[in-house]
Amino acid sequence: MFRRWLLGILIVVAVAIAGLFVIAWRPSIAPIDPPATGSLPPERVARGAVLAGAGYCATCHTARGGARYAGGYPMATAFGTIHSTNITPDPDTGIGRWSEAAFVRAMRSGVARDGSHLFPAFPFDHFTKVTDQDLGDLYAFLMSQPPVAAPPRQNTVPFPLNLRALQAGWKLLFLRKGVFEPDPARSEAWNRGAYLAEGLSHCGACHTPRNAVGAERRSAAYAGARVDGWEAPPLTAANPAPVPWSEDALYAYLRSGVSALHGSAAGSMSEVVHDGLSRLPDADIRALAVYFADVSGAAARADRSDAAVVAALAASGQAPSSASDAGAELYRAACASCHYNRTPAPLAARPELALVSALGSDDPTNLIRVVLEGIGVEEGMPGVLMPPFAHLGDADLAALAAYLRRTRTTRPPWPDLEAKIAEVRRHTAGT
Ligand code: HEC
Ligand code: HEC
Ligand code: HEC
Repeated sequence: MFRRWLLGILIVVAVAIAGLFVIAWRPSIAPIDPPATGSLPPERVARGAVLAGAGYCATCHTARGGARYAGGYPMATAFGTIHSTNITPDPDTGIGRWSEAAFVRAMRSGVARDGSHLFPAFPFDHFTKVTDQDLGDLYAFLMSQPPVAAPPRQNTVPFPLNLRALQAGWKLLFLRKGVFEPDPARSEAWNRGAYLAEGLSHCGACHTPRNAVGAERRSAAYAGARVDGWEAPPLTAANPAPVPWSEDALYAYLRSGVSALHGSAAGSMSEVVHDGLSRLPDADIRALAVYFADVSGAAARADRSDAAVVAALAASGQAPSSASDAGAELYRAACASCHYNRTPAPLAARPELALVSALGSDDPTNLIRVVLEGIGVEEGMPGVLMPPFAHLGDADLAALAAYLRRTRTTRPPWPDLEAKIAEVRRHTAGT
């Protein structure tokens, strides 16, 4: 009796495993000889270069100090570290032997040329929306780059999650294939913005929260998420900035890295702006701004803007409330000279702290990170520097953050600031 029972279980398990492999199996696509240098149409290569910017391919596919597109960049996920791969046309360690069909399949379905499944750390769930024409241009661009021999780096995803076949199950549940479909009721600019945002520029990969198995929660699109030890703020009406993100503010921020009424792009958002979107023409940035002004419902909240700016400028000139407040003293000594606006409108080069999301968010991480690490001359608004204050102690920084939150927002105090600062410090020391 027991033996029959055991046999039954074994058969079920065997069928399940066989079933998974049947579902997961993908054919390999025949290798090609790498296209000869100069054989690719220059206009396609040029268009592909712009699209590679829109998709930040270089940001993820370049290791620190490594050759561009040669891979090896470590991505820390909840499931271990996954390294990007070499997408230069090197025949042995890159994609030199990949046909255009193999490249398109990888971008649309997350399957490598040899038929193995790719991890969704590679945002194919967004790239699946890109048109044939754009994928062809990207292929032409990548195949025209200098080949670099760079073998893959070892990932640290533990067994059994490292079984690539399991990704087939993930895709069944979460991958919605299909090229972006324009909404005829919307303007051309809105549709262009949506195409870029949902597809190549995958804004949701950072700004949309993920579920327990790492898939974006569709019902919470752009609701804000944690990424690489930063908070990518919500881009919806839940955005904490006192001044709603209007089309013009979004345009300025995405084009230049700073909006005078919101502050500057730090952390990975700085790379998005300066290493990626900077390749796109103004019309595409405008289209992204049109789309996200709609996502954030800025028009419906526009009447708040003036009052928010007036209140922020009033706080800007505020003297420390009392000499016994350590946070206020520190602010006056270390920050006020650069962050004090007297003019009728705040200047982009001295962000008005009452207006930045980092202060209004319920998560103090971005404020702490910016103060600890500063913002380099090349980051945020190019040409200006926010110095790092890592030398200040946790207690001092906590007092400073609490003071800013109390005097420049109407939100409740941040709990456990000192512990939070220590945690952020540990995290940044490790990267
Ligand atoms: C958010 C980071 C990220 C971005 C942005 C990104 N990739 Fe990747 N890509 C990865 C990772 C990680 C892998 C490896 C996945 C794996 O090993 O399963 C990968 C794999 C690939 C592969 C499969 C290569 C192989 O050898 O199997 C191709 C092709 C590719 N990416 C092309 C691109 C292109 C083109 C762009 C820009 C449009 C791009 N990627 C942008 C992270 C990224
Ligand atoms: C030498 C001038 C200077 C000093 C001193 C200074 N800052 Fe800054 N800060 C800047 C500049 C300039 C930027 C914008 C940097 C950029 O965009 O590249 C900035 C950016 C910031 C931001 C990011 C705003 C955003 O857009 O999200 C915060 C937060 C901030 N500073 C807080 C502080 C605090 C707190 C102190 C005191 C401990 C301080 N700063 C001291 C010049 C300064
Ligand atoms: C690699 C991750 C990543 C991607 C991709 C990304 N963002 Fe961000 N974004 C961030 C982070 C992190 C911040 C916070 C930066 C800061 O505080 O300076 C941010 C900030 C922003 C802000 C400012 C929000 C605020 O209230 O201060 C806007 C607007 C924004 N992103 C729009 C976009 C758009 C549009 C796209 C796609 C074109 C995009 N982001 C793609 C990570 C990302």
